[in-house]
Amino acid sequence: MPTFDPDVDFIGRVTRHLDGWLIDDDAEVTADLLRTQEAWGAGDAPLFEIGVYCGKYLSLLMASAARTHSRVLGIDTFQFKDLATVTEGLRVLVPDLMQVLSLHQGSSRDLTADSILQVLGRPARFISVDGSHEHHDVLHDLRLADDTLDEFGLVAVDDFLNPVAIGVNRAVNSFMESAPNLVGVACGPNKLFLARPMQADRYRQHLEAHLMSTSSARGELFRSRLGTWRGLVEQQFFGSTMLLYACPP
Ligand SMILES: C[S@@+](CC[C@H](N)C(=O)[O-])C[C@H]1O[C@@H](n2cnc3c(N)ncnc32)[C@H](O)[C@@H]1O
Repeated sequence: MPTFDPDVDFIGRVTRHLDGWLIDDDAEVTADLLRTQEAWGAGDAPLFEIGVYCGKYLSLLMASAARTHSRVLGIDTFQFKDLATVTEGLRVLVPDLMQVLSLHQGSSRDLTADSILQVLGRPARFISVDGSHEHHDVLHDLRLADDTLDEFGLVAVDDFLNPVAIGVNRAVNSFMESAPNLVGVACGPNKLFLARPMQADRYRQHLEAHLMSTSSARGELFRSRLGTWRGLVEQQFFGSTMLLYACPP
Protein backbone atom coordinates (compact mmCIF):
# COMPACT_ATOMS: atom_id res chain seq x y z
CA MET A 1 0.00 0.00 0.00
CA PRO A 2 1.42 3.47 -0.91
CA THR A 3 2.48 5.50 2.14
CA PHE A 4 0.94 8.90 2.82
CA ASP A 5 3.29 11.75 1.82
CA PRO A 6 2.15 15.08 3.33
CA ASP A 7 4.05 17.10 0.70
CA VAL A 8 2.53 15.23 -2.24
CA ASP A 9 -0.84 15.68 -0.51
CA PHE A 10 -0.29 19.47 -0.07
CA ILE A 11 0.87 19.86 -3.68
CA GLY A 12 -2.25 18.02 -4.87
CA ARG A 13 -4.68 19.90 -2.60
CA VAL A 14 -3.16 23.41 -2.80
CA THR A 15 -0.20 24.07 -5.11
CA ARG A 16 -1.77 22.49 -8.22
CA HIS A 17 -4.89 24.62 -7.80
CA LEU A 18 -2.98 27.92 -8.00
CA ASP A 19 -2.34 29.38 -11.42
CA GLY A 20 1.34 29.65 -12.37
CA TRP A 21 4.37 27.69 -13.49
CA LEU A 22 5.76 24.77 -11.52
CA ILE A 23 6.75 21.27 -12.59
CA ASP A 24 5.78 18.50 -10.13
CA ASP A 25 9.36 17.16 -9.87
CA ASP A 26 10.62 20.63 -8.89
CA ALA A 27 7.73 21.09 -6.44
CA GLU A 28 8.40 17.77 -4.70
CA VAL A 29 12.17 18.29 -4.53
CA THR A 30 11.62 21.80 -3.15
CA ALA A 31 9.23 20.47 -0.51
CA ASP A 32 11.81 17.86 0.45
CA LEU A 33 14.60 20.48 0.70
CA LEU A 34 12.39 22.70 2.85
CA ARG A 35 11.67 19.76 5.18
CA THR A 36 15.42 19.13 5.34
CA GLN A 37 16.05 22.69 6.44
CA GLU A 38 13.37 22.29 9.11
CA ALA A 39 14.94 19.03 10.34
CA TRP A 40 18.38 20.65 10.42
CA GLY A 41 17.08 23.34 12.74
CA ALA A 42 16.27 26.26 10.47
CA GLY A 43 14.58 27.94 13.43
CA ASP A 44 12.38 30.85 12.51
CA ALA A 45 14.58 32.24 9.71
CA PRO A 46 12.37 33.87 7.04
CA LEU A 47 11.82 32.94 3.39
CA PHE A 48 11.12 35.13 0.39
CA GLU A 49 10.27 35.03 -3.30
CA ILE A 50 10.79 37.55 -6.08
CA GLY A 51 8.06 36.85 -8.66
CA VAL A 52 4.95 35.52 -6.94
CA TYR A 53 2.37 35.66 -9.77
CA CYS A 54 -0.55 33.79 -8.05
CA GLY A 55 1.54 32.17 -5.33
CA LYS A 56 1.96 28.64 -6.71
CA TYR A 57 5.60 28.14 -5.63
CA LEU A 58 5.07 30.52 -2.73
CA SER A 59 2.50 28.09 -1.28
CA LEU A 60 5.33 25.61 -0.59
CA LEU A 61 7.32 28.32 1.21
CA MET A 62 4.23 29.28 3.23
CA ALA A 63 3.66 25.68 4.35
CA SER A 64 7.27 25.42 5.52
CA ALA A 65 7.15 28.81 7.26
CA ALA A 66 4.02 27.77 9.16
CA ARG A 67 5.82 24.67 10.45
CA THR A 68 8.77 26.75 11.73
CA HIS A 69 6.71 29.73 12.96
CA SER A 70 8.57 31.96 10.52
CA ARG A 71 7.48 34.42 7.84
CA VAL A 72 7.36 34.61 4.05
CA LEU A 73 7.76 37.78 2.01
CA GLY A 74 6.44 37.78 -1.56
CA ILE A 75 7.68 40.53 -3.90
CA ASP A 76 5.95 41.21 -7.22
CA THR A 77 4.90 44.10 -9.41
CA PHE A 78 1.49 42.35 -9.60
CA GLN A 79 1.24 43.59 -13.18
CA PHE A 80 -0.49 40.42 -14.43
CA LYS A 81 -2.69 39.54 -11.43
CA ASP A 82 -3.48 42.31 -9.00
CA LEU A 83 -2.50 42.10 -5.36
CA ALA A 84 -6.09 41.80 -4.06
CA THR A 85 -6.89 38.91 -6.44
CA VAL A 86 -3.70 37.05 -5.52
CA THR A 87 -4.33 37.54 -1.79
CA GLU A 88 -7.92 36.32 -2.09
CA GLY A 89 -6.89 33.30 -4.19
CA LEU A 90 -4.46 32.24 -1.47
CA ARG A 91 -6.91 33.00 1.32
CA VAL A 92 -9.51 30.66 -0.19
CA LEU A 93 -7.06 27.76 -0.52
CA VAL A 94 -4.87 28.20 2.57
CA PRO A 95 -6.69 30.38 5.13
CA ASP A 96 -4.63 28.77 7.90
CA LEU A 97 -1.32 29.83 6.31
CA MET A 98 -2.12 33.50 5.65
CA GLN A 99 -0.65 34.64 8.96
CA VAL A 100 2.89 33.85 7.74
CA LEU A 101 2.60 35.96 4.58
CA SER A 102 3.47 39.57 3.66
CA LEU A 103 3.18 40.71 0.05
CA HIS A 104 5.15 43.69 -1.25
CA GLN A 105 4.03 45.38 -4.46
CA GLY A 106 6.89 46.85 -6.50
CA SER A 107 9.83 46.03 -8.73
CA SER A 108 12.72 44.14 -7.17
CA ARG A 109 14.97 46.61 -9.03
CA ASP A 110 13.90 49.23 -6.47
CA LEU A 111 14.98 47.03 -3.56
CA THR A 112 18.39 46.71 -1.95
CA ALA A 113 19.71 43.94 0.28
CA ASP A 114 19.47 46.36 3.21
CA SER A 115 15.83 47.19 2.52
CA ILE A 116 14.94 43.49 2.27
CA LEU A 117 16.86 42.62 5.45
CA GLN A 118 15.10 45.45 7.24
CA VAL A 119 11.71 43.91 6.38
CA LEU A 120 12.81 40.32 7.11
CA GLY A 121 14.60 41.19 10.32
CA ARG A 122 17.38 38.70 9.57
CA PRO A 123 18.88 36.81 6.58
CA ALA A 124 16.65 34.33 4.77
CA ARG A 125 16.87 30.54 4.80
CA PHE A 126 15.16 30.06 1.40
CA ILE A 127 14.94 32.51 -1.52
CA SER A 128 13.10 31.95 -4.79
CA VAL A 129 14.22 34.05 -7.77
CA ASP A 130 11.38 33.95 -10.30
CA GLY A 131 10.65 37.55 -11.31
CA SER A 132 11.71 39.36 -14.47
CA HIS A 133 13.42 37.29 -17.18
CA GLU A 134 15.55 40.21 -18.42
CA HIS A 135 19.28 39.63 -18.04
CA HIS A 136 20.06 42.74 -15.96
CA ASP A 137 16.99 42.30 -13.74
CA VAL A 138 17.82 38.66 -13.02
CA LEU A 139 21.43 39.54 -12.29
CA HIS A 140 20.20 42.14 -9.81
CA ASP A 141 17.85 39.58 -8.19
CA LEU A 142 20.64 36.99 -7.92
CA ARG A 143 22.92 39.53 -6.23
CA LEU A 144 20.11 40.43 -3.84
CA ALA A 145 19.75 36.72 -3.02
CA ASP A 146 23.50 36.34 -2.41
CA ASP A 147 23.44 39.36 -0.08
CA THR A 148 20.36 38.30 1.92
CA LEU A 149 20.74 34.51 2.31
CA ASP A 150 21.83 33.12 5.66
CA GLU A 151 24.81 30.77 5.94
CA PHE A 152 22.66 27.59 5.80
CA GLY A 153 20.18 28.74 3.17
CA LEU A 154 19.15 27.79 -0.35
CA VAL A 155 18.37 29.88 -3.44
CA ALA A 156 16.00 28.41 -6.04
CA VAL A 157 16.41 30.01 -9.47
CA ASP A 158 13.56 29.42 -11.90
CA ASP A 159 13.89 29.09 -15.69
CA PHE A 160 17.68 28.59 -15.87
CA LEU A 161 17.27 26.06 -18.71
CA ASN A 162 13.98 27.39 -20.09
CA PRO A 163 14.31 28.05 -23.84
CA VAL A 164 11.72 30.84 -23.67
CA ALA A 165 13.56 32.70 -20.85
CA ILE A 166 17.07 33.00 -22.27
CA GLY A 167 17.87 36.15 -20.26
CA VAL A 168 17.75 34.02 -17.11
CA ASN A 169 20.35 31.63 -18.51
CA ARG A 170 22.65 34.50 -19.45
CA ALA A 171 22.23 36.12 -16.02
CA VAL A 172 22.93 32.89 -14.12
CA ASN A 173 26.09 32.31 -16.14
CA SER A 174 27.28 35.93 -15.65
CA PHE A 175 26.47 35.69 -11.95
CA MET A 176 28.31 32.39 -11.45
CA GLU A 177 31.32 33.75 -13.36
CA SER A 178 31.47 36.67 -10.90
CA ALA A 179 32.50 34.18 -8.14
CA PRO A 180 29.55 34.74 -5.78
CA ASN A 181 29.36 33.19 -2.33
CA LEU A 182 26.99 30.56 -3.78
CA VAL A 183 27.59 27.28 -5.60
CA GLY A 184 25.37 24.82 -7.45
CA VAL A 185 23.64 22.05 -5.49
CA ALA A 186 21.14 20.57 -7.94
CA CYS A 187 19.34 21.28 -11.17
CA GLY A 188 15.91 19.93 -12.11
CA PRO A 189 13.59 20.50 -15.05
CA ASN A 190 13.08 24.19 -14.23
CA LYS A 191 14.80 24.95 -10.90
CA LEU A 192 18.46 25.48 -10.14
CA PHE A 193 19.38 25.28 -6.45
CA LEU A 194 22.35 27.19 -5.03
CA ALA A 195 23.80 27.18 -1.51
CA ARG A 196 26.77 28.52 0.42
CA PRO A 197 29.94 26.56 -0.46
CA MET A 198 30.18 25.09 3.09
CA GLN A 199 26.62 23.70 2.94
CA ALA A 200 26.37 22.49 -0.66
CA ASP A 201 27.71 18.96 -0.04
CA ARG A 202 25.27 18.38 2.79
CA TYR A 203 22.28 19.37 0.64
CA ARG A 204 23.57 17.36 -2.31
CA GLN A 205 24.07 14.22 -0.21
CA HIS A 206 20.62 14.60 1.31
CA LEU A 207 19.00 15.05 -2.11
CA GLU A 208 20.82 12.05 -3.56
CA ALA A 209 19.60 9.91 -0.64
CA HIS A 210 16.05 11.15 -1.34
CA LEU A 211 16.33 10.35 -5.06
CA MET A 212 17.74 6.90 -4.26
CA SER A 213 14.80 6.04 -1.99
CA THR A 214 11.74 7.73 -3.50
CA SER A 215 9.34 5.49 -5.41
CA SER A 216 8.52 8.35 -7.84
CA ALA A 217 9.29 8.16 -11.57
CA ARG A 218 11.89 10.88 -10.89
CA GLY A 219 13.69 8.56 -8.46
CA GLU A 220 13.49 5.57 -10.81
CA LEU A 221 14.99 7.58 -13.66
CA PHE A 222 17.74 8.96 -11.41
CA ARG A 223 18.69 5.43 -10.28
CA SER A 224 18.59 4.04 -13.80
CA ARG A 225 20.87 6.83 -15.08
CA LEU A 226 23.21 6.41 -12.14
CA GLY A 227 23.38 2.68 -12.97
CA THR A 228 24.51 3.59 -16.49
CA TRP A 229 27.05 6.27 -15.59
CA ARG A 230 27.42 8.69 -12.68
CA GLY A 231 28.17 11.47 -15.17
CA LEU A 232 24.50 11.43 -16.20
CA VAL A 233 23.36 12.59 -12.75
CA GLU A 234 26.32 14.59 -11.46
CA GLN A 235 28.31 17.22 -13.33
CA GLN A 236 30.64 20.13 -12.63
CA PHE A 237 29.08 23.60 -12.57
CA PHE A 238 31.38 26.59 -12.05
CA GLY A 239 33.77 24.55 -9.92
CA SER A 240 31.24 22.65 -7.80
CA THR A 241 29.52 19.31 -8.25
CA MET A 242 25.85 19.51 -9.10
CA LEU A 243 23.16 16.80 -9.02
CA LEU A 244 20.91 16.59 -12.08
CA TYR A 245 17.37 15.24 -11.73
CA ALA A 246 15.73 16.67 -14.86
CA CYS A 247 13.96 14.44 -17.39
CA PRO A 248 14.81 15.75 -20.86
CA PRO A 249 13.04 14.05 -23.80
C1 LIG B 1 7.03 33.57 -14.04
S1 LIG B 1 6.05 34.58 -13.01
C2 LIG B 1 6.31 33.87 -11.40
C3 LIG B 1 5.70 32.52 -11.24
C4 LIG B 1 5.48 32.09 -9.80
N1 LIG B 1 6.71 32.02 -9.03
C5 LIG B 1 4.74 30.78 -9.71
O1 LIG B 1 4.98 30.00 -8.78
O2 LIG B 1 3.88 30.52 -10.58
C6 LIG B 1 6.97 36.06 -12.91
C7 LIG B 1 6.41 37.10 -11.99
O3 LIG B 1 7.41 38.08 -11.81
C8 LIG B 1 6.82 39.35 -11.71
N2 LIG B 1 7.85 40.34 -12.05
C9 LIG B 1 8.35 40.67 -13.26
N3 LIG B 1 9.30 41.59 -13.16
C10 LIG B 1 9.42 41.87 -11.83
C11 LIG B 1 10.23 42.76 -11.07
N4 LIG B 1 11.15 43.53 -11.66
N5 LIG B 1 10.09 42.78 -9.73
C12 LIG B 1 9.17 41.98 -9.12
N6 LIG B 1 8.38 41.12 -9.79
C13 LIG B 1 8.49 41.07 -11.13
C14 LIG B 1 5.64 39.29 -12.66
O4 LIG B 1 4.65 40.21 -12.28
C15 LIG B 1 5.19 37.83 -12.50
O5 LIG B 1 4.13 37.72 -11.59
